[in-house]
This record gives sequence, structure tokens and C-alpha cells, in this order.
Amino acid sequence: MTGNRIYLTLFVVSAVGVALVAALLLNIFQRKQEGRDRFFNVVPIARFETDPQVWGHNFPEQYDGWKHTTDNYGRTRYGGSEQRDRLAENPNLKRLYAGYPFSEDYKEERGHGWALVDVLATKRLGKKKPGTCMSCKSSANVKLWSEIGPEKFYTTSMVELAKTTKHPISCLNCHDPKTMELRPANPAFLSAMKERGVDLSKATRQEMRSYVCGQCHVEYYFESKAKPVLRFPWKNGFRVDDIEAYYEALEFKDWEHKESGAKMIKAQHPEFELWNTGIHARSGVSCADCHMPFKRIGSQKISDHWVRSPLVNIAAACETCHRWDEKEMKDRVLTIQDRTKKLLSQSETAILAAVDAIKAAKSAGASDSALQEARHLHRRAQFRWDFMNSENSMGFHSPQESARLLAESIDFARQSQVAALKFFMKSEGKVAKR
Ligand code: HEC
Ligand code: HEC
Ligand code: HEC
Ligand code: HEC
Repeated sequence: MTGNRIYLTLFVVSAVGVALVAALLLNIFQRKQEGRDRFFNVVPIARFETDPQVWGHNFPEQYDGWKHTTDNYGRTRYGGSEQRDRLAENPNLKRLYAGYPFSEDYKEERGHGWALVDVLATKRLGKKKPGTCMSCKSSANVKLWSEIGPEKFYTTSMVELAKTTKHPISCLNCHDPKTMELRPANPAFLSAMKERGVDLSKATRQEMRSYVCGQCHVEYYFESKAKPVLRFPWKNGFRVDDIEAYYEALEFKDWEHKESGAKMIKAQHPEFELWNTGIHARSGVSCADCHMPFKRIGSQKISDHWVRSPLVNIAAACETCHRWDEKEMKDRVLTIQDRTKKLLSQSETAILAAVDAIKAAKSAGASDSALQEARHLHRRAQFRWDFMNSENSMGFHSPQESARLLAESIDFARQSQVAALKFFMKSEGKVAKR
């Protein structure tokens, strides 16, 4: 080979190389661009578009999934979408919630598409209920919080707000319509996170996949009757002890127990808090990983917008990470749930024994000050029990923490019973026979 031919060959080879690299880069660039333009807008979506159907023109698959949230897929052992009557199923609840509206109407929750219908139908809420109750039920909130401001929203009655509210929880609650990014909008969540020193603008995508749920699936309270501002009691942390300390400092009560006279705290639905104490949260597994798993539609990978019990969708919800078959996965969940349920029932028995002892002491003439300790222990025992009873996973979201709470609940309940019985020891000089 002459020197010229060597140069020519080298030249051709490197030219081909450069061309290949360029083609590869172009291909990567195009793919990135496709990734970025994943969203092909058929219609523009307004900043406060509350109607999911309009969003559905651009994102038919997600809209279709969302529509399924009104389906009744039946019950699982402890959850599912059937509106079971929880008071009829567990007669203890009527006494445990005595004096509070939950003793009159308490049903199993179902899918997001029902939220508005169900909040308006519940017998728990009278005509005077504040707009605050609407905070977690509709996409219209996001618009109203911006247009009339949270203060006005909270002080307008729920019935009044309902007149102009058409849609239940939907796209606008979780997505920014311009970028389609996840973003929580509930002012109570935003201010509680700020109070905890969390800068949401720095949140990762994975964190957002739980934060959007943490707007609603949480423990909450109203600042006061006169000022029904929605607040999340998270300043000290997410554990029940942190939340209890927060309420103690405020001397907060939701109601006075009709039988024991104790000042009670009603737990709401602390899924976000309980999940936070568990191994999945610790391993970075988000709410959406289990409740909105990815699914394939043709060449597309999308999030399943039919938010529901993962027990009816184990293959997609669990088996991306766990290699056990469906039956084994389900057994593992049910084992955790059955154990939790057993402890929950034992805690109910213990609390009702405390209530009985307080009542007996009172009718035997015990003064309020003599009953103070027993009542305070009743409050503490029942808040722990209620945290678990109102949380909707029957212990699955954090099995060990659930067992810890219920063990403490039983302990406090028995301590309350002993404290009430002390009255008889004092008044009769011996332990009462019972
Ligand atoms: C309860 C919250 C919630 C609601 C309501 C909701 N989404 Fe989503 N959406 C999510 C989550 C979580 C993801 C996953 C995002 C991620 O991984 O970054 C997602 C992802 C998406 C994506 C990206 C592609 C995909 O499927 O992962 C689109 C598009 C989308 N949603 C459209 C909609 C539309 C349209 C509606 C209303 C019909 C809607 N979403 C309602 C939570 C929600
Ligand atoms: C705007 C408030 C709100 C947001 C945001 C929200 N939820 Fe809900 N969710 C509710 C309410 C209210 C219900 C009960 C509706 C009913 O029973 O009428 C519910 C019900 C559910 C159910 C029960 C469904 C069934 O079939 O029994 C699951 C599971 C659930 N939500 C998970 C999630 C997850 C996961 C997220 C985040 C991706 C989320 N939710 C975001 C308010 C919300
Ligand atoms: C590792 C998977 C996993 C994660 C993560 C997870 N959940 Fe769950 N969740 C479950 C399972 C399993 C159940 C039990 C369902 C049943 O009993 O039918 C459940 C139950 C629920 C229910 C009641 C559903 C029903 O059928 O009544 C709600 C509401 C819920 N989870 C919300 C959340 C929220 C909000 C988060 C995040 C803060 C979350 N979950 C995180 C697996 C998960
Ligand atoms: C995104 C991954 C992921 C998904 C999805 C997921 N898990 Fe897990 N799961 C984990 C990790 C990580 C652990 C911790 C295991 C470890 O570190 O050894 C775990 C632990 C568990 C444990 C042991 C719990 C304990 O307290 O020790 C059970 C049971 C479990 N998962 C069930 C489920 C079920 C049921 C589902 C579906 C509803 C599910 N997981 C979905 C990642 C996942």
C-alpha cells in the first residue's frame, strides 16, 4: 500500500466513524425530544380546568383509568370498593365513638370518582358544615383556593360550595396542566410541609409520587369551630407520639366521650403518616408504586390511573419488585392484616373495660378530679387504636409500627381501668370485687 492509499483508507474509516457517531447522537436527541414531547396536546388545557373529560382529549388512557375509579370491584378481606357498613360490622364502634357523628354513619371508603357524591350523602355532616370538608373531595378546590382564597373557602358552607362544584377528585388535584408534572395544591399540605422545613420545589419525582396523595390521606384537624382552617399536625413528626404531643400542646379535643367524659381526639385516615414509618417508605417505595403501577398499552408505558386496592392487581403492583407468586404475596399481606385485626379487637376490649370502670366509679360518686388520670389514659389509648382503625391498610403500610401502637393502646387502656378502680380502693379501703 502506498502512503496515499493508507491516508485515504484512514480518512474513509474515520469519516464513516464520525457519521455513525453523529447518527447515534441524533437518534438519542430525537428520543429525548420524543420523551419531552410525550404529551401531544389535542386541546389546550386551562390553568384551572376542573373537568377530567377535557384533559381526557389529550390523555385518553389516563382518563379511561380514572373513570374506572367509580367501578365496584368488590371487597378484599379488609378493603375494596364496596361501601360496607362499618358500624354494623363492628358493634364496638358505636360505643367507642359515643357522642361523635362517626357513631351514626361510618362506611368503608371507595374510589376517587365517588368522593363528591359520598361526602354530600354522609349523615355525619349537617347543613352547617364548613367548606373545609370539601378540601379533599373535588378538583374545583384548586380553582377556588386560588380564586377566592383558602380563608373564604373554609368559611363558606359546604352545601353552598357544592352548588358550583361538579367534579370529584381528578387530574387538577395532582397535576399542573401546563407541564403535567405532579404538584400538591392543598394549602394545608403546603403549609404543614413548610413548617417541617421541607422545600417542595426541591422534591424529587419519587417523593412527589407520594406527596400528591399526602394532600388528603392524612391526619388533620380544624383550627377551631369559629375558624375552620384545615391543618395537619406534623410539626413534631409523623409518628403517633409526635402528633399526640402536638395536640397536647394545643389542649386540643374533637369531642367529649359520652360515656367516660374523656376529651377525645378523632384520628382521620393517616395513610401517609403510617406509610412514612414503614419499610417501604424507608426503601423509597411510593404510594403510586403500589396504587398506580405502570402498565403497558402498545408501545406506551403509562401509570394505571385506576387507583384502588393493590390486592386486586398484585402482578403489576408488587411483582416488579418481589419475586413471589400472587398467592404468596397475598398471603403475606393477609397475615399482617389478620394479626393487626386481632390486636385491634383486643384493644377495643381493653378500652371498653376502661370506659366501664370510669362509668362505675363515676356513678359511685367519683369526682372529676378523681377521674382525671383515668380519662386522660382513655384518650391516649383510644387515639392509638383509632389511628389504626381509621388508617385504611389494616396494618400493611407499616406492620411493626401498627403492632407497637396497638400494644401501647392496650397498655394505656388497662392503666386507665386501674386508675378508675383506684377510686374503689380508696373509698372502701380494699380492692373492689369484680
Ligand atoms: C391522585 C393523583 C392523580 C390524579 C387524580 C391524576 N393523576 Fe395522572 N399521574 C399521577 C401519578 C402519581 C403519575 C406518575 C407520575 C410520575 O411518575 O412522575 C401520573 C402520571 C400521569 C401522566 C404521565 C404518563 C403516565 O401515565 O405515567 C399523564 C399524562 C397523566 N398522569 C394524566 C392524568 C389525567 C388526564 C388525569 C385525569 C383524568 C390524571 N392524570 C389524574 C397522579 C394522578
Ligand atoms: C384530593 C384528595 C385526594 C387525593 C389527592 C388522593 N386521594 Fe385517595 N381518596 C380520597 C378520598 C376522599 C377517598 C374516598 C372516596 C369515597 O369513599 O367516596 C379516597 C380513596 C382512595 C382509595 C380507596 C379506593 C377503593 O377502591 O377503595 C385509595 C386506594 C386511594 N384513595 C389512594 C390514593 C393514592 C395512592 C393517591 C395518590 C396517588 C391518592 N389516593 C390521592 C382523597 C384523595
Ligand atoms: C408497598 C405497597 C404499598 C404502598 C407503598 C402503599 N400502599 Fe396503600 N395499600 C397497600 C395494600 C396491600 C393495601 C391493603 C389493601 C386491601 O386491604 O385491600 C393498601 C391499602 C390502602 C388504602 C385502602 C384501600 C382499600 O381497599 O380500602 C388506601 C386508601 C391506601 N392504601 C393509600 C395509600 C397511600 C396514600 C400511600 C402512600 C402514603 C400508600 N397507600 C402506600 C399497599 C401499598
Ligand atoms: C418498588 C419496589 C416495591 C414494590 C412495588 C413493592 N415492594 Fe414490598 N418491599 C420492597 C422493599 C425494598 C422491601 C424491604 C425489603 C428489604 O429491604 O429487605 C419490601 C418489603 C416488603 C415486605 C416485608 C415487610 C416488612 O415489614 O418486613 C412485604 C410483606 C412486602 N414488601 C409486600 C409487598 C406487597 C404486597 C406489594 C404490592 C402491594 C409490594 N410489597 C410492593 C419493595 C417493593
